[in-house]
Amino acid sequence: MFDLKKIVRKNILNLKPYSSARDEFSGKEGVFLDANENGFGSPLKENYNRYPDPLQIEVKEKLSRLNGLPIKNIFLGNGSDEAIDILFRTFCNPSKDNVIICPPTYGMYEVSANINDVSVLKVPLIAETYEIDTTSVLKAITKNTKLIFVCCPNNPTGNGIKWSSIKQILTNFKGIVVVDEAYINFASYDSLIKELKNYPNLVILQTLSKAWGLAGLRVGLAFASEQIIDIFNKIKPPYNINAVSQKLTLEALDRADQVNKWIKQIISERDKLSNELNKLSFILKTYPSEANFILVKTTDANDIYNYLISKKIIVRNRSQVTLCENCLRITIGTKEENKKLLNTLKKYTS
Ligand SMILES: Cc1ncc(COP(=O)(O)O)c(C=O)c1O
Repeated sequence: MFDLKKIVRKNILNLKPYSSARDEFSGKEGVFLDANENGFGSPLKENYNRYPDPLQIEVKEKLSRLNGLPIKNIFLGNGSDEAIDILFRTFCNPSKDNVIICPPTYGMYEVSANINDVSVLKVPLIAETYEIDTTSVLKAITKNTKLIFVCCPNNPTGNGIKWSSIKQILTNFKGIVVVDEAYINFASYDSLIKELKNYPNLVILQTLSKAWGLAGLRVGLAFASEQIIDIFNKIKPPYNINAVSQKLTLEALDRADQVNKWIKQIISERDKLSNELNKLSFILKTYPSEANFILVKTTDANDIYNYLISKKIIVRNRSQVTLCENCLRITIGTKEENKKLLNTLKKYTS
């Protein structure tokens, strides 16, 4: 049986969080002499002299309407990278606990583990299909395994991970299964949000950096049980989402129609680009993608990468990554950008 108290670090369970001025009084009217702010204003067109809402309630209310999830199940981080770091700080005792990742996958899981002095057990995806090797993941679990990261759709391979595999891990693991859905808006299947009520050990990560086009604002989301979200809120820096990000995110969240149009265009461009790339002799394979990028296997990734750089087109060279020999990861751009990429590649000679 999953018992949250047993897997949260003792110091975190017992932590008395910092109580900010805005935690202690959150009304909007009054003479505010409690937070050592500058009452005169800011030397800008708009005033940012007041600390922002520490719990970002208005943003969460809008997200709640979009996702159908109560705000008590939503955490906002300074990018989902902050949520990843908070997962480590909540559950993993430095130099004692470990986490499982399935390479090739998003690099920050391992970096965050290293920063937090937590060891990483690697269970590679199955070569070529990039499916998760569920049996090996379950075998790799030790008594100190706290987190298992599943990136779905996976970065850099672009494929989704079968729900049956994720479910098997969720059911057979007493720690936390983190499903990173950074690219879910481009996928042909739904988010696992609806499964949260069935699996108290599920934490879902999403971000506004990809489909929502807000990478510069740094807003990441974590969805989980109320008990887990309460702990994340205890640990996070008091004002982790700044006032500008909150304000602009509120505006952007009213424009889902625009975002949905872009998503459709990106998916259509992805499929077109993949077809065209397959016609080039030095592209050996394009992997099927559920995301806004394509992984392509080439005859010589380093050479093609350098050629593209010389033409001021920057893609990601993933050829040093496990199971991605000679692979490039190409983000789907606008129609014009993709055309430029294709025309440039057509002129490539090895
Ligand atoms: C799978 C995955 N998760 C998380 C992130 C980080 O997102 P954010 O910008 O919200 O920190 C990325 C960014 O590339 C990603 O690929």
